[in-house]
Amino acid sequence: MLDFNLDSVTRERFCLLPTPIHKMQRLSEELGKVNIFVKRDDLTGIAFGGNKNRKLEFLLADAKAKGADVILTEGALTSNHCLQTAACSAKLGMKCELVLSDAASGEKITGNILLNQILDIQIHRVSSSEERKSKMKERAKILSSEGKMPYIIPTGGSNRIGIFGYIACMKEIAVQSKEMNIQFDYFVFGTGSAGTQAGLVAGKLLYYPDIEIIGINVGDNREEIISATMEIIEQFEEDWSLQVGLKDLDIIVNDGYFGEGYGIASPELVETLKLVAKLEGIFLDPVYNGKAMVGLIDLIHTGKIQQESNVLFLHSGGGPAIFAFDDVFGKKL
Ligand SMILES: Cc1ncc(COP(=O)(O)O)c(C=O)c1O
Repeated sequence: MLDFNLDSVTRERFCLLPTPIHKMQRLSEELGKVNIFVKRDDLTGIAFGGNKNRKLEFLLADAKAKGADVILTEGALTSNHCLQTAACSAKLGMKCELVLSDAASGEKITGNILLNQILDIQIHRVSSSEERKSKMKERAKILSSEGKMPYIIPTGGSNRIGIFGYIACMKEIAVQSKEMNIQFDYFVFGTGSAGTQAGLVAGKLLYYPDIEIIGINVGDNREEIISATMEIIEQFEEDWSLQVGLKDLDIIVNDGYFGEGYGIASPELVETLKLVAKLEGIFLDPVYNGKAMVGLIDLIHTGKIQQESNVLFLHSGGGPAIFAFDDVFGKKL
């Protein structure tokens, strides 16, 4: 094992960790001879939980260490990352501003859009995702000219600092695996801006080498996710003078399940969400976890995930998004 001390990384601790791992017994029985476990990162604690809380423990600590007093970040109107950044900043008493663009599921005042309003977050609207970066730069310039110290967090909190969220998660899994006396063979999750994947891959190489990390693309460009993942890991290696042993082989982004695009719910996705809710009492969001679960079920059915294996599925949060999909799931009573 490589000599890397995670405890030496600056971190705020506001998540409820470790998040539980438990077996999805009825789903496992439904799908056949595979044991499906779930890592409950929907229970990380702030703003209905989710994977971004983990990254933010490191990003906001870095911001604080650098003397920042305003956090700036960006995303779609319904972004989980933006809501969680706003809520975690609030928890630390830091001001936060969001640059938000369009949303695949529209502009209904529900889900994260509503929650941002409860937080009274300052929002700057732009009309497309391409415009977000320049708007952030513009805001940062204005804030600096007012004597403030802005700190920019990129989309999804995916960078050389955010990576620690899922490096720490993999370390946590290694401990839980030992306590439960179960070797997890596969880890399946929805991948988007690459920060979760970069952390998991680096964390695997550092702490839990025998697990296969399978990212299910939720609607971005596969090649871009792979290159962004590699870039973040390379930055991590550079910052810490480490060679974690990254090979192309270690980065798996499965492209088969994003359907018609980001945030678009196919009939198969709807059935999958209902199946998991009815068998396990767990609600998956349609944008990330629902698609990842469609992928997992297909990988089991097609034998790409081997029988008798132990699969760990990441529930990465995002629950509030469900409420924007009332036209897909809802019917008049
Ligand atoms: C609920 C949820 N799951 C998964 C992801 C994907 O994580 P990443 O952007 O680190 O790939 C996101 C990203 O916003 C998310 O909100």
